[in-house]
Amino acid sequence: MSLIVNGKQVHGPADPRVSLLDHLREDLHLTGTKKGCNQGACGACTVLVDGERILSCLALAVQYDGRAITTIEGLAGGDALHPLQAAFVEHDGFQCGYCTPGQICSAIGMASELERGVPSHVSADLAADAQWTREEIQERMSGNLCRCGAHNGIVDAIRATFATEASA
Ligand code: FES
Ligand code: FES
Repeated sequence: MSLIVNGKQVHGPADPRVSLLDHLREDLHLTGTKKGCNQGACGACTVLVDGERILSCLALAVQYDGRAITTIEGLAGGDALHPLQAAFVEHDGFQCGYCTPGQICSAIGMASELERGVPSHVSADLAADAQWTREEIQERMSGNLCRCGAHNGIVDAIRATFATEASA
């Protein structure tokens, strides 16, 4: 089996029991994706699979044969930060930085969900376009914990990057 990680074809793990998180970190040495709880509770391990956010600690690498995985290492364009990475810097969206790769990958997947009109638990009108309110973003990012308490800056960075004036 093989995976496409950040645009490059790479081998799968020799052992089919290896999680996608461990394969990224231990075999491919892509240590930007972090291991927090290793049981699906913190969001530190979030990566994108074909644009959808997933928790890589709960996924076996062999499930993703031929799929396109994007990690934090794959977001910047050369020396230029991804706009959301730059917004995290500008809006104090991190302190220690441990949760940050997962926050950023999760927010990119979340933005796509919101733009497609996928409702959340706090959406008042399921038929209306979802809004980029703080409440919506807080709810949609509630699976990504930050023990440094940078959540307000994280929401500010997400809104600054994705929300248009009309939808904010
Ligand atoms: S390490 Fe995967 S959710 Fe915490
Ligand atoms: S910045 Fe430290 S855990 Fe989020």
